[in-house]
Amino acid sequence: MGKNVGKDSEDYGKKWVKKDEERENVYWPTDRLKEKCHISDKEIYEKAKKDPHNFWSKKAKDMFDWFEDWDEVMEWNPPYFNWFLDSKTNLSYNCLDRHLKDKRNKAAIIWEPEPLEEEKRILTYQDLYRKVNKFANKLKELGVEKDDPVTFWMPMIPETAIAALACQRIGAWHSIVFTAFSPKAVKQRMEDAGSEILITVDGFYRRGKTIELKEQINETLDEIEAENCIVVQRAETNPSMDQERDHFYDELMNKSEEYCEPEPIDAEDTGFLLYTSGTTGKPKGIKHSCGAYGVQAALTMKWIFDIHENDVFFSTADIGWITGHSYSLYGPLALGATQIWYEGSPDYPKPDRLWKIIEENGVTQFYTAPTAIRALRKEGDGWVEKHDLKSLRILGSVGEPIDTSTWKWYFEKVGGGRCPIVDTYWQTETGGILLTSLPGVGPFVPGVAGPPLPGIGYDVLDATGEPVKEEESGEIVIDGPYFGPGMLRGIYKNPEKYEEEYFSEFGEEVYFSGDGGVKRELEIGGQNLIEVTGRIDDVLEVAGHRLGSAEIEDAIDNLDEIMESAVVGKPHDVKGEVPAVFAVLKQGETGSDELRDKIVKIVREEVGPVATPYAAYFVTDLPKTESGKIIRRFLKGLVRDEELGDMTTASNPSCLSELAEKVGYNG
Ligand code: WT7
Repeated sequence: MGKNVGKDSEDYGKKWVKKDEERENVYWPTDRLKEKCHISDKEIYEKAKKDPHNFWSKKAKDMFDWFEDWDEVMEWNPPYFNWFLDSKTNLSYNCLDRHLKDKRNKAAIIWEPEPLEEEKRILTYQDLYRKVNKFANKLKELGVEKDDPVTFWMPMIPETAIAALACQRIGAWHSIVFTAFSPKAVKQRMEDAGSEILITVDGFYRRGKTIELKEQINETLDEIEAENCIVVQRAETNPSMDQERDHFYDELMNKSEEYCEPEPIDAEDTGFLLYTSGTTGKPKGIKHSCGAYGVQAALTMKWIFDIHENDVFFSTADIGWITGHSYSLYGPLALGATQIWYEGSPDYPKPDRLWKIIEENGVTQFYTAPTAIRALRKEGDGWVEKHDLKSLRILGSVGEPIDTSTWKWYFEKVGGGRCPIVDTYWQTETGGILLTSLPGVGPFVPGVAGPPLPGIGYDVLDATGEPVKEEESGEIVIDGPYFGPGMLRGIYKNPEKYEEEYFSEFGEEVYFSGDGGVKRELEIGGQNLIEVTGRIDDVLEVAGHRLGSAEIEDAIDNLDEIMESAVVGKPHDVKGEVPAVFAVLKQGETGSDELRDKIVKIVREEVGPVATPYAAYFVTDLPKTESGKIIRRFLKGLVRDEELGDMTTASNPSCLSELAEKVGYNG
């Protein structure tokens, strides 16, 4: 036996892509990859286009077990829609019970703890099934019922998956908050959802440090008078516990019934909430369905990552984001696949941690964000070259546009020039991947996400709502009613916001993504490839993490010294973009390094470390429209050193010269 399990496979080290003979920077699957892939014929695009709803209906039957079938595939009352009407299923059943027959001894999750001296933990489908059943019974005993929101502040440990699936089993909705958000962010989300229970850990490990979550959240739990808090002991920190309210996970699990009947859930009932940033106000609770969402997660997982029985899938996405939900939890488990969960930081203890995990586990598909690739690339090629990564077959990218230079490094150094890169574009709202090339069909082009998935109706529109011509740029939209079934079903308790954010730009039949794109000339199966250029609204993508200008500004405006502030994304060579603050001070205040530190501190406290500002400019005025709205577009142009465009919309254009000087604008 070789030291790498992949070495024993007939696929080991094989070439899966070839260069286009005529065009530079275009790659295609080799015949060998085509033979291997679930989908290798571009006709699938044409076929799906003929009747997208029928296409999804068939796929839903292939991918999932249903307790009751639907009468109607899709109902469309713009801008609202329902899928698989009156059907019943259960996500936990589809991820667990149905695999027991032939996969109960298969590894479902291989968990890599951050400390190297700790052993990895492997949970088989049988293990996961038993634990989920027991935990579901405990949730019920604590009074959690169908349609109750359960908030999580949990890191990447197996208990997070167990708890999420337990919620699905009884029809409760999880609302998972990223651990690099602050206790205040947890509070805000618990209050918005009306959630009375929190699941968290004593602590966990990140870059060699113990991050103690329970101690940090105690005050919040008191303030909101939470009814229950379940604490998984991960780091043996001995947190303070409230006798009445707080329960240790292990103690609950020690005395629990073994089986919990999976609740038959209407395909349209809410499966979970996930808060994400919008263009204005507080984060909004994106409502996802259960069965319909699960179908898109499972199908995209199978087709885009081309999952086979013996594969080992590794996504580095944290469970606090939609990628963690669809491709670190529901997608892989619905397919009965084996996947890796890694607790910690990609560069701990050394910058080769991810490469080491790939080598040791014989990972076949690896999915990460450009920001991680850029950060690891900076550490030098030696860290990758040290490892044998020939088990890899497919590489994935997500979260932000991937620049050509990073793409090429990923392709050559990590994939050894053998593996296709699936650049997957989607959003929290879409629930599953929307644009990408399929591995067995191609083509793979640096910086270009690809065509829409079969069964999805996309377009790129100009400002007047007309489709742009090839090689022109515009705004990415989805044409109703050809959304995938994974598409959001609303914003929790806020239908106005749903209509305003997504269905007002181009009318109530067209979903507006907030992203700009270029319709490329290259097409496949009658679908143009799309190059995603990034957000055109007031949303930032910091290291692939989505943040709203408005939330960060709200935090800063709490400072006594500040009259008002505006936050925009400033380019950063590793993180893609980082928050830059423009602050107008109150009379008598002066800008100083201390005030900069205060700004950083309050943002970290109110929003979380993930939103830490990288620059703060003190200015006397901000560019505004006649009606007093800040024109962030100008500020963005300034920090990016780009053309500022038409300035006649500003009521106070004279402020721009001061701003330009402060940021050192040369454009
Ligand atoms: C925003 C959504 C979807 C999972 C991760 C983030 C940007 C996402 C790509 C890509 C260019 C991308 C967009 C999008 N984005 N994937 N492959 N190429 N940009 O989910 O937090 O909801 O953020 O991420 O700007 O709107 P999210």
